[in-house]
Amino acid sequence: MVKIFNKVIYKNLIYLHQLLFVILSIIYSTLNRNISTDSKINSKEYKEYNPKKFEILDPFHNRSKIADVAKGAKGVYIFTVCEELSNHNISYVGSSINLYNRVCSYFMPSILAKADRRVLRYFNKYGFNNVKLTLFILDSNSTWEQVLELEQYYIDSLSPNLNVDLVAGGYNGYHYPMSQAARDALRKIRGTPIYIYDNTTKSLIFISDSKEWLYSNIGIHHISLNNCIIDGKLYLNRFLFSMDIISELPYESILTSEDLVLLINTVRSKYKPNQPKSKKVLAENILNPNLNCTFSSIGELAKHLKGDKSTIRKYILGRSEGLYRKQWKFTILNFSGP
Ligand SMILES: *[C@@H]1O[C@H](CO)[C@@H](O)[C@H](O)[C@H]1NC(C)=O
Ligand SMILES: *[C@@H]1O[C@H](CO)[C@@H](O)[C@H](O)[C@H]1NC(C)=O
Ligand SMILES: *[C@@H]1O[C@H](CO)[C@@H](O)[C@H](O)[C@H]1NC(C)=O
Ligand SMILES: *[C@@H]1O[C@H](CO)[C@@H](O)[C@H](O)[C@H]1NC(C)=O
Ligand SMILES: *[C@@H]1O[C@H](CO)[C@@H](O)[C@H](O)[C@H]1NC(C)=O
Ligand SMILES: *[C@@H]1O[C@H](CO)[C@@H](O)[C@H](O)[C@H]1NC(C)=O
Repeated sequence: MVKIFNKVIYKNLIYLHQLLFVILSIIYSTLNRNISTDSKINSKEYKEYNPKKFEILDPFHNRSKIADVAKGAKGVYIFTVCEELSNHNISYVGSSINLYNRVCSYFMPSILAKADRRVLRYFNKYGFNNVKLTLFILDSNSTWEQVLELEQYYIDSLSPNLNVDLVAGGYNGYHYPMSQAARDALRKIRGTPIYIYDNTTKSLIFISDSKEWLYSNIGIHHISLNNCIIDGKLYLNRFLFSMDIISELPYESILTSEDLVLLINTVRSKYKPNQPKSKKVLAENILNPNLNCTFSSIGELAKHLKGDKSTIRKYILGRSEGLYRKQWKFTILNFSGP
């Protein structure tokens, strides 16, 4: 009798336990839902790698502030759109081993206009009002895996609604994980990486440790390299150098350094500058500054002045003295090749 009674109580106790558990879970998840994105970012600081946290209000107009803390830095960036009345603020979590460039790429009209990722469509449509940028910057000797781990941590704790899939390293907002070869290359990187893309295949072909490596191994001049990096000019009409991953070019076929050197040398041996003897002629009119103009060839200049090409050439070469028609001075502007 006692035994049966005990059994009944025991069964009910188990039942009560389960009920209690369900009730507590509901309460907990309700509470959790009401916890703001902000306090989620704050309360669950990722202790292991001691990231340094920075918050930048209105990042779109505050780029110097981003530059101050994030130039060449590795870590995680979080965009939060703060709306007083919203109960789930809009957010996006990403990571980069070059945070400043990565974050600022979101502000570039050409990239925004592509709107080929959910986060870009959002910012393209609504702009950057009320946006807050939170940066978690890791030690400069952190590995790419550690950066991804931190990104995954914030993706997991925030469930950011502008991320299409909730996997770190999905550079495109879609899931295009890096190839193993690219991961291996990145893992070995010690300095500031430079990504080399091939415009013919639209793919990432190499990640270099440093500019110095490129100077001495592919023989690029430092001025040419800087022009390529800053202006996006193609090297040898074919290669694109970038300080950051270009998510618009998602394909990869990583070459060994020997293969890269071989490829560049082959392309260089066949390379002909766009206009081999491209020279521009500056024509200055000493009477009327509004007539000053540059021309891409002597022929074009002669046509414009309705003059004789060989006479003009004599002035250009200094074989005729003085000014052409007593008012024109010509100067050849030289363009150095790569
Ligand atoms: C959304 O952002 C506003 C302004 O920063 C904040 O007051 C609010 O608590 C946030 N709400 C959530 C759910 O994160
Ligand atoms: C730049 O950020 C600082 C702090 O993050 C903020 O006080 C300031 O208002 C921001 N500047 C602009 C122009 O938004
Ligand atoms: C980076 O180097 C510092 C010493 O400068 C060291 O304390 C830290 O553990 C290193 N971090 C990683 C991620 O290796
Ligand atoms: C890159 O390649 C595409 C063809 O795939 C071509 O249309 C484009 O002009 C090339 N870019 C440059 C700057 O040469
Ligand atoms: C343009 O023309 C004026 C005189 O008309 C001259 O002094 C000036 O140096 C010219 N050159 C340039 C490049 O503006
Ligand atoms: C352009 O190059 C020629 C020789 O190739 C030189 O005589 C001339 O001074 C140069 N012009 C300029 C503007 O540097």
